[in-house]
Amino acid sequence: MSENGRKERFEELMEMYVDYSNVECFPERIRRELSSTEPYDEDLIKFFKQNSPVAGEIATNPASDFITRTVYASTLPQMPPRYSIDDLLVYSPGGRALFNRLPAASKILAKWITEHESCDIVDLGGGSGSYAFKTIEILSKMKGFNSIVKRISWTSVDIDSGAIELGKARSKADGLTGQVFFEEGNFMSKKFPTIDADLVVLIGVLCGMTPEVAVTCLEKVRRFIETRNGEIYAATLLTRSFEEDPICFRIFAKLGWHLKPKTEEEVRKVFNDAGYEIIDIHSERDTETERVPGQYAIVRARLKA
Ligand SMILES: C[S@@+](CC[C@H](N)C(=O)[O-])C[C@H]1O[C@@H](n2cnc3c(N)ncnc32)[C@H](O)[C@@H]1O
Repeated sequence: MSENGRKERFEELMEMYVDYSNVECFPERIRRELSSTEPYDEDLIKFFKQNSPVAGEIATNPASDFITRTVYASTLPQMPPRYSIDDLLVYSPGGRALFNRLPAASKILAKWITEHESCDIVDLGGGSGSYAFKTIEILSKMKGFNSIVKRISWTSVDIDSGAIELGKARSKADGLTGQVFFEEGNFMSKKFPTIDADLVVLIGVLCGMTPEVAVTCLEKVRRFIETRNGEIYAATLLTRSFEEDPICFRIFAKLGWHLKPKTEEEVRKVFNDAGYEIIDIHSERDTETERVPGQYAIVRARLKA
């Protein structure tokens, strides 16, 4: 319950009936259990751990970027006709939205870099640097890349030492040790030093926060862009994610991802309440010619004057 006694949206979504009777990758018995609104019991969690590395990782370490990395690496054109539980999670509409968030947001970030001379970027909760590497890959295909890449300093901050190590290894392998850096730490803590940035990237971090907690997070993030009068790109999950894919949303949530999808109106209010002025909102489905509403809001904002 929220402070005003109202049920949180997460609780409401957990109580809605979701029908698993036709989801073929699960045995009949499991389909019945999944359709129940009860929390998953130990046996069901054990079943997931034994039959799906992706589900097992969520149940064991919900904050890890292993899942995002796995989804980003999934390259089949669509869900195969005979699919495993991992295929279901990765190729469902929810998995595809996450997959598409990487190129969509990276394209937007690449454009931002081409338009700015000073590009000190701090990627908070940046995991193993997926967005840094994808953005630089997109830029590398553009004319003038050699001069553009020199102005990029992209620091990914993450609390997960495993993700930091992976990122450092990739930075070295890709010859980007002068552009892509990694810092281990909790950016929400006052003890974590401020890195003055022209741009903060905050992707997949607000998704698990209620509007109230998201406001607090965005307030804490202000210090990274205050000195330079910088901007932020933040991506957060929308309620459309449940509407379009209740089957996977429910599995992710019951395994341990406390997803807090927001309406577009709530997203606007969160940024406003945290003292930001929204410049633009994209989604993972934007095309060259039109804005298409998606499962994620990719918000560009600056601090209010
Ligand atoms: C869902 S992953 C997203 C990773 C990456 N931004 C992406 O979208 O691919 C969330 C990441 O945020 C990190 N994280 C969450 N809270 C954090 C905090 N307070 N300080 C540092 N890292 C944090 C987690 O360790 C995890 O790697």
